[in-house]
Amino acid sequence: MSKAGGIRIGVVGLGTVGQGVWKHLRARQPELELHMGGKFVLARAAVRHLDKKRSVRIPAKALTDDPMSIACDPEIDILCELMGGTREALAVTKAALKAGKTVVTANKALLCEHGEELFALARQNGAHIYFEASVAGGIPIIKALREGLVVNHFPLIYGILNGTCNYILTRMEREGQSFEAILEDARKLGYVEADESLDLDGWDAAHKAVIIAYLAHGKWIPLKKMPVEGIRDVTLEDIQWAQRLGFKIKLLALILRDFKNGHVFASVQPALVPGDMVLGNVDGVFNAISVTGDIVGESVYIGRGAGQDATASAVISDIIDAGTTISHGIRPEEPLNCADLKLAKPEDVYRSFYVRLSVKDRPGVLAEVAGILAEEGISIESVLQRPNGGQGLANLVLTTHVCTEAAMAAAVARLKRHKSLNRKPFLLRIADFAQRLG
Ligand SMILES: NC(=O)c1ccc[n+]([C@@H]2O[C@H](COP(=O)([O-])OP(=O)(O)OC[C@H]3O[C@@H](n4cnc5c(N)ncnc54)[C@H](OP(=O)(O)O)[C@@H]3O)[C@@H](O)[C@H]2O)c1
Repeated sequence: MSKAGGIRIGVVGLGTVGQGVWKHLRARQPELELHMGGKFVLARAAVRHLDKKRSVRIPAKALTDDPMSIACDPEIDILCELMGGTREALAVTKAALKAGKTVVTANKALLCEHGEELFALARQNGAHIYFEASVAGGIPIIKALREGLVVNHFPLIYGILNGTCNYILTRMEREGQSFEAILEDARKLGYVEADESLDLDGWDAAHKAVIIAYLAHGKWIPLKKMPVEGIRDVTLEDIQWAQRLGFKIKLLALILRDFKNGHVFASVQPALVPGDMVLGNVDGVFNAISVTGDIVGESVYIGRGAGQDATASAVISDIIDAGTTISHGIRPEEPLNCADLKLAKPEDVYRSFYVRLSVKDRPGVLAEVAGILAEEGISIESVLQRPNGGQGLANLVLTTHVCTEAAMAAAVARLKRHKSLNRKPFLLRIADFAQRLG
């Protein structure tokens, strides 16, 4: 049953994403209304600067610089939060949910930091939160997990969730240029967030991993309990070593669950991905997610992770779902039961590793390094060695068989003190499906 006069939509934030949403909703309104099974009205929008020039025309009476007035407007059914940030966006989202409105958001930082509180508030007030655009932009991964794969349990999910890092790593690999040189280009192209740390230090990908883990397992994993590393320390040399070994380096989010011992684990770290794995060939600004379901097996989703149109596509899909849900009076779904789920300790996770060492080029060093690894229970899979700059130094690159993070940490602590090493060891994880929880 459709609402008389149509579902009324308020868009809070008309920047990159908001303008795309407004534009495509207008352009495809008749066919979207058929999908939704009723009419909708683009009723109001909020911005910070009323006089700013925009690519969409909004009637002056529909525009405000007070987002709270939309959140509290009894005429608005769906509040579309596209303002970003976590302070004002939190206040606006809470006000809308308390008023029983449906919220559609693209704000991964907001959900990562306040998701637990917001979803509880939504349930208390019979309201819904839709958030497809908060993870991997245009890839409908939330729908895939929530609907298409609903019967599955998910022991393994991993993905490339930050297009900026993937763009930088891809160009370093293809053009043989340094991280700094490509970063400068990415800045000029507007690919890097104003707060660069969000992209380069892995936080943006971590926000998205937290949301995926919640969807797949019902648990909000605190960011501070997750190993999160970015790509600043990945050198051109590592990328070239990885290539020689048959790998590509990608910033990889990983979500593991062991259904026997009730442990879950999430991390974001640069990793060596085998060149013959699908994700090893997802390059440039593209995102990709591999989901292993216990019933369906592996499925992989690839697409644009950001940008006006890709993100608007996801937001609009949520708006249409939200409109249908409101028209049919559907109650918010209950979260998955995660009462028995525990966070795995990072040190207990089994991985295989890439280890780069800069050592004195003298006989016996390799044997000493291998000895230390062996004493910590780590066996070596491959070794590459090259002289380094002709100053009596050599680069030693090892890959290992699977061992725990704790064993590798112990080996690294000993290697750091070794007299033949002139720099601390550099580690990367290998994404080879051997990763598992202890
Ligand atoms: N851009 C992407 O590709 C992308 C992809 C996925 C998810 N997202 C998420 O989508 C959200 C929006 O991103 P965006 O790139 O569209 O951001 P943006 O271009 O910076 O736009 C933000 C909009 O919000 C408005 N705004 C900010 N604070 C406000 C306030 N206090 N009161 C009223 N209006 C306010 C701004 O107004 P003015 O225009 O007047 O300054 C602007 O229109 C963020 O949560 C982001 O993480 C973005």
